[in-house]
Amino acid sequence: MLRMTTACCLLLQLACLAAAPGAVPMEITPVAPGVWRCRFGQPEALTPTHFRSAPIAAEALAAMPAVDKPPLAAAELHVAVSARGCSLRLPLGTDEGIYGLGLNTRWFEKSGRRQMLIPSDGPEDPAGPSHAPVPFYVSTAGYGVYVDTARFATFNVGNVAPVEDAASGAGAMADNTADLYRARGLAVRHMLVEAPAAQGVDVYLFAGPALLDAVRRYVLFAGGGAVPPLWGLGMVYRGKSDFGAADGLSLARKLREQHIPCDVFGLEPGWQTKAYSCSFVWDKGRFPDPDAYLRQLRELGFHVSVWQHAFTHPDSPIHEALRPMSGDYRVWGGLVPDFALPEARRIFSEHHQQVLFGKGVDAVKLDECDYQPFGPEPWSFPTASRFPSGLDGEQMHSLFGLLYQQTLLEPLTAANRRTWGLVRQSGALAAPLPYVVYSDSYDHRCYVRGLANQGFGGLLWVPEVREASSLEDLYRRVQTVIFSPLAQIDPWYMKLPPWQQINAEKSNRGEVMPEAPEATVIVRRLLELRMSLVPYLYAAFNEYRLHGTPPIRALIMDWPGDPAARGIDDQFMCGPSLLVAPLFAGQASRQVYLPRGRWCDFWTNEILAGGRSVAVRKPLDQMPLYVREGAILPLARPVEHIAADTVFELEARVYGTPTGPYVLYEDDGLTNDYLRGQQCTVI
Ligand code: GAL
Repeated sequence: MLRMTTACCLLLQLACLAAAPGAVPMEITPVAPGVWRCRFGQPEALTPTHFRSAPIAAEALAAMPAVDKPPLAAAELHVAVSARGCSLRLPLGTDEGIYGLGLNTRWFEKSGRRQMLIPSDGPEDPAGPSHAPVPFYVSTAGYGVYVDTARFATFNVGNVAPVEDAASGAGAMADNTADLYRARGLAVRHMLVEAPAAQGVDVYLFAGPALLDAVRRYVLFAGGGAVPPLWGLGMVYRGKSDFGAADGLSLARKLREQHIPCDVFGLEPGWQTKAYSCSFVWDKGRFPDPDAYLRQLRELGFHVSVWQHAFTHPDSPIHEALRPMSGDYRVWGGLVPDFALPEARRIFSEHHQQVLFGKGVDAVKLDECDYQPFGPEPWSFPTASRFPSGLDGEQMHSLFGLLYQQTLLEPLTAANRRTWGLVRQSGALAAPLPYVVYSDSYDHRCYVRGLANQGFGGLLWVPEVREASSLEDLYRRVQTVIFSPLAQIDPWYMKLPPWQQINAEKSNRGEVMPEAPEATVIVRRLLELRMSLVPYLYAAFNEYRLHGTPPIRALIMDWPGDPAARGIDDQFMCGPSLLVAPLFAGQASRQVYLPRGRWCDFWTNEILAGGRSVAVRKPLDQMPLYVREGAILPLARPVEHIAADTVFELEARVYGTPTGPYVLYEDDGLTNDYLRGQQCTVI
């Protein structure tokens, strides 16, 4: 429930058939308002649209500005099919900025780069592999393109020159190497998409007029964005891998004693008898009475999230039933269930209903569902695998995370329960899935780039906090995490919370650092800031569902015409009006780009003119955070955790003259009844 006090603060159709010479015919059909499908050759049957997680949000698309023709003309698309697969060439203007293609945390704007869309557990790969490759891109010219394939597609973003474009090379002679090589740049640009094996493909075009409109249309085409349960927006703490019930409870109690906000307690591999591969059976040594343990956590106000991966150990009670419904290669001795088969899903999810969800577990962390495309020692199933559904190993790798998420969502949806899970691989059309992508990687700068990148692909991404190289590093990391879709402290290999000990070895020796009391105070205050933003974030997620606007966005989405915003990947918008510019350990100050308009420093209320970069310093317990002029920012009195009867006491801060009404969403925060109209808005 929301209770509001207003404290005005401070200042302030089948359209055409076209055949380019030497190419196969293409058919362009409108599929939803502002969305067209171009079909050529014989598309494969088992693609992401075949396995979509939700129907197209047609009404929401119809409510967007009408557009009468596709953003690219059929005559501009060149397609070809060969024994190797198919390819598609699309035009690119010399000045277009291209974003998306999944969750690569190394590159932001993609022009001039080749990106290989292969799922990988190494997301910082400049070649494109990531935890969530998505064959969708958007352009600053105001359109989006989605290639519906589960193949490991390659996108050559402007770095190919078809033979007819002889003018593409500048070729100028120069008297120094830099200028000589600069002349190699291409003047005319094309996007070339290659999809191996497929003998045709469906390509979807999304109209603008602006880049953000194309992103919205893509998200709505996927079915609209996921909405978390209210508790999903609170803090998550994950215990050490081998914690048993006693360790878990003692830590959970300490979190409450120390008044550290926390809504979700996470269990890592140790809950099971076998973990690599998984038995999906509680270990009675560490957890003599799982029901009592889960009840005690619930009584302390925690929701529980449980780790697992899908590879099913021979000792698992579902191993034999799954055997005929699995791939022909094992991983870590376990079966790889074919989640494309309804029967495999049923066996898997019914067992999980029995051992987890039916006992009160609310969320899962779906680990290890990615791949290792280039390393010499891959551990996951080979691309040559075959699955009974007809998928091969390559297609299954692209779809595995998506199908796995859907499988474990089914029993919760059937019980009318919302969830907010974690997953290590996602992909195309994932927006409606209530899971957030995480990683083992730990580069803070890449984490922030992931936050800026996530929205282009209809994805959600969570950086996390584990160990830290200094207290400054700890605080700066926490300051990033509190602005992410799932705010997670994940010391899965550390006994003590990082505010008690930042060093993993010392943590495991039980040595509390001398600065722990001060660190606890600072971290608690930061987590409280997150808790005060919960109603604001909840509204942003409802906007994601209804209108497709990503809750966390790169600046270029909101200021598409601003050339200075094009390359900014170390700042992002959180909700409609907060601009976050994280600091990294070792940075005494940083430049923050404030787009045009006026901005208010969240901490000092200083008003700053935008359209320029400013040098910013912040003390260790604050991050650069700015509020857009004209915003209404609801801030809740922070609670330590969100219960069914929690009443948020809100203060609405008004920054200048409001540019319009602000809408808050209120519902039970727990079930899917909001989808059936059980939701109020407060304007
Ligand atoms: C990793 C995962 C970590 C942690 C660990 C436990 O694969 O990325 O977050 O869960 O497994 O073994």
